Amino acid sequence: MSMKYKEIISTLPKHETPYPPYEFCQYQGFWFPFILLEGIAFLSEVFKAESCDIFLCSFPKTGTNWLKALAFSIMTRSDQLFDDSTKLPQEIVPTMETDYVLNPTFLDTHELPLFATHLPYTLLPQSILESDCKIIYICREPKDTFVSLWHFTKTVKKNVEELKDIPSNPLEQAFENFCEGKSVSGPYWDHVTEYWKASLDRPDRVFFLTYEDLKSDTLGYVKKLAEFMGKPFSQEEEMQGLPEKIVTRCSFQSLTSLSNLEENKTRSAGLISNSAFFRKGEIGDWKNLLTEDMAKSIDQITQEKFQCLGLTF
Ligand code: A3P
Repeated sequence: MSMKYKEIISTLPKHETPYPPYEFCQYQGFWFPFILLEGIAFLSEVFKAESCDIFLCSFPKTGTNWLKALAFSIMTRSDQLFDDSTKLPQEIVPTMETDYVLNPTFLDTHELPLFATHLPYTLLPQSILESDCKIIYICREPKDTFVSLWHFTKTVKKNVEELKDIPSNPLEQAFENFCEGKSVSGPYWDHVTEYWKASLDRPDRVFFLTYEDLKSDTLGYVKKLAEFMGKPFSQEEEMQGLPEKIVTRCSFQSLTSLSNLEENKTRSAGLISNSAFFRKGEIGDWKNLLTEDMAKSIDQITQEKFQCLGLTF
């Protein structure tokens, strides 16, 4: 890490975790693992958005890879999406701050004007905020988001050699951290609020959707997303059933089987196996993990934070 970033990062508030390489730092109000901070600072300085760029923004575990698959299909009009086994959504569309960690020059070779990020709205590079590019934000009910994150963290831990022998955070501790905002890109509620407000201020530039809405009317939202992206389906494409094909191609079942193919399993998006991004894909899975008290306390925070915004799930 360059000295310049090292100095900035050394002054930030820290939150100890049982996994020292993943120590969390609070940067401009949001928590990030130490390893992502250089990329975040670097991108904010050098990233130059073009007006044709589209950014898929999200809090982790809210359906980012599903949205990546849909947006990629809409943009490229490819119903053969991912047939080539080198093309899984998490590999085609870079998540900027994590891809930077794996390959700091990834921008030099990325041609498609489609990017993803878990950065909060106020931490997006200035050139994105000032340009005419479009932002699509997906959010998800917080209890399901936490539960998805819990399972994902366990999978990552199993995958990463240096973390294997370190004891896991107990569920109660991870839950408390999440509620206090101390999780990747947290606080969850501030992340959602920023994009929600931006979507109200700039509806032509920021499209806000929920995982739950996308699940209940995937076809309707694929059409809305295509309109928003400036790529509406023509009558001919509708007649050919292209929107329906995209829905099927990007369905949970389809993406799961692709990521489970032997040749795809062996590659991995960074430290994480491809299949880790597709677990259950259900609404309400929190009931299988959280106690009633946990559910009540998270619901209370959600009500306090979101009621005034008119945001419900
Ligand atoms: P679960 O862990 O609840 O199953 P992200 O892509 O932001 O990491 O989000 C991951 C979550 O989205 C996981 O939730 C995953 O199973 C779910 N998901 C991925 N693809 C999906 C799809 N096509 N349809 C519905 N859910 C999907």
